[in-house]
Amino acid sequence: MTEVSPGEDAVEFDVDAPAGEFEPKPPEAHYDPPAGRVHPDAELGWIRRMQPVVLGHKRSFLIAMAMASVALFSNVAIPAVVGAGIDEIRADGDRVPMWVATLLVLAVTRAVFAFGYRSRLYKFAYAIEFDLRSLMFRHFARMSHGFYDKVQTGQLVSRANSDIRAVQMLLAFAPFMAMMSLTFVLAFAFMLTKHVLLTVVAVSTLPLVYVFGVKLRNQMFPLSWIVQGRLADVATTVEENVTGVRVVKAFAGEERQIEQLAEQARRLRWSAVKVADSRATYAPLMENLPRLGMALTLLYGGYLAIDGQVTVGTIITFSSYVLLLQAPFRMLGFFMIMSQRAAASAGRIFEILDTEAEIADRAGAIDLVDPVGRVDLDLVRFGYDTRDVLDGFDLHVEPGETVAIVGGTGSGKSTIARLLLRFYDVDDGSVRIDGHDVRDLAMASIRHHVGMVTDEPFLFSASIADNIAYARPDATRDEVIAAATAANAHGFITDLDHGYDEIVGERGYTLSGGQRQRIAIARTLLADPAVLILDDATSAVDVRVEAEIHEAIERLAEHRTTIVIAHRLSTIALADRVALIDGGRVLAFDTHAALLSSEPHYREVLATSVESPEADEGADV
Ligand SMILES: Nc1ncnc2c1ncn2[C@@H]1O[C@H](COP(=O)(O)OP(=O)(O)OP(=O)(O)O)[C@@H](O)[C@H]1O
Ligand SMILES: [Mg+2]
Repeated sequence: MTEVSPGEDAVEFDVDAPAGEFEPKPPEAHYDPPAGRVHPDAELGWIRRMQPVVLGHKRSFLIAMAMASVALFSNVAIPAVVGAGIDEIRADGDRVPMWVATLLVLAVTRAVFAFGYRSRLYKFAYAIEFDLRSLMFRHFARMSHGFYDKVQTGQLVSRANSDIRAVQMLLAFAPFMAMMSLTFVLAFAFMLTKHVLLTVVAVSTLPLVYVFGVKLRNQMFPLSWIVQGRLADVATTVEENVTGVRVVKAFAGEERQIEQLAEQARRLRWSAVKVADSRATYAPLMENLPRLGMALTLLYGGYLAIDGQVTVGTIITFSSYVLLLQAPFRMLGFFMIMSQRAAASAGRIFEILDTEAEIADRAGAIDLVDPVGRVDLDLVRFGYDTRDVLDGFDLHVEPGETVAIVGGTGSGKSTIARLLLRFYDVDDGSVRIDGHDVRDLAMASIRHHVGMVTDEPFLFSASIADNIAYARPDATRDEVIAAATAANAHGFITDLDHGYDEIVGERGYTLSGGQRQRIAIARTLLADPAVLILDDATSAVDVRVEAEIHEAIERLAEHRTTIVIAHRLSTIALADRVALIDGGRVLAFDTHAALLSSEPHYREVLATSVESPEADEGADV
């Protein structure tokens, strides 16, 4: 990015600003970045698109597979060795220790490698999960406001959890299952060399295991979706009741909410019982089918042994294999369902990852460096959807000026603030800061130099000091205190039990509305923006405190451009000029006194939104 200093381009102010630079300081990463990204080509199959993520961990994966092959091979070898051993020992009793030792070695090998591959495979699986999760979260962080306006939080959370899990399961365990099927081939081939017909008898029940497995999964699959959906319903109700508890209680809605939750819990119970029912039907069948196979093997094998066609050892090997081999058959059905599910989940993940951020830095975007704070909105047209909120909106604010924006509710005042921070892009016209179109500036630098405080400030459940220092985590305690003092918050903070180290409750609910607002103002002041936007930011503090805050803000930076959106006459009167907006454009832009005498509409807006202007006029102006 090239840097541009003020005064170079369209700006011709002579300001002796210190030669600082815009330095966004990203927090130090304490985690590994994802090893790979998903393939950007949406036309490709989902496994192909996931491939780069998987390949990022191929070492773990290959080691796991190598270990698994040793473990599975020992698993197949043990019954064969037992059979051969029994046959030989019957002829020559001296060889017992040798066979026992062989078996021991095999068993220990199997145990060690089974441990090894499991731990590796899970490591691999969770590495993929971690990567997908950070890819998702990075993507969420990049998405612009328009995306969050539309999407449901619950959907995002569910995608970030269950969908990633489903994909991870398949990617990690499918290869393992394929390997397990190989053990079947090995064992089957071994059995065929011993006795073809006995092999057929031994595996005769396995197709049934598969069929019932598929049947069970077919029943379970839709049911498990239903269970998941209903679990989510219950979770949503619980979550809403906790976050919205103040509204619920204020309207005495507890009984209704309990009813609603009970109904959802009943629905969840029904589906959970259905799952248990189908499991109860099929699981005993599937567990006992191999035993039937074993009985048949013993019966037919017994006859063959009496006849001298096979040895006792062979019968024992076969009956072990019947049990061993059912696992791949059971899993095959499971695997097919899992792959359908993973494909659907992957589709939903891609749907998010493929959504481009509507607002992004353009190639070659420049940093805004030491702006003087000139703000221009040139004939801006903008609407969130088809309806225009602003149309032909034209406003020019001089550096260092304090401008109030006055207009009816829903007239687009907050929208202007959002456009200045480039939360959205204009449909027509332009928004410029220091002469630079915001679309040409690096977003991080805009947000560094343009600060906004809203009427609904969001605080994190962290200490007050951490909340204030959010934009500048490296700020010293003295700087934090200075910002808090300017925001008229120092007094009440020191009255708290733990002062600046007091942890505020979720969203700052342990503080009053006015206290929250003052902390939010301190947070923005600490960032020391050249353009400060106060969107109804002092609506919850009384007039006296508000006046003190404004005074402090003015004192703090003479050069700061301040845009106040306010309903209160006392706030409006602090501004150098007032922009009266209506119908998506600026109706008039002048001093408060001039507007009062010349604009009848101004008096109307003030009369509806504030205490009677006439009554307050003398006191405030
Ligand atoms: N995220 C959004 N998506 C769609 N429409 C929106 C969105 N935000 C605001 N609007 C619409 O845009 C219009 C202007 O909203 P805005 O928030 O700018 O009004 P305002 O002047 O700040 O009002 P208030 O004084 O009540 O805060 C309103 O009609 C509103 O319904
Ligand atoms: Mg607003």
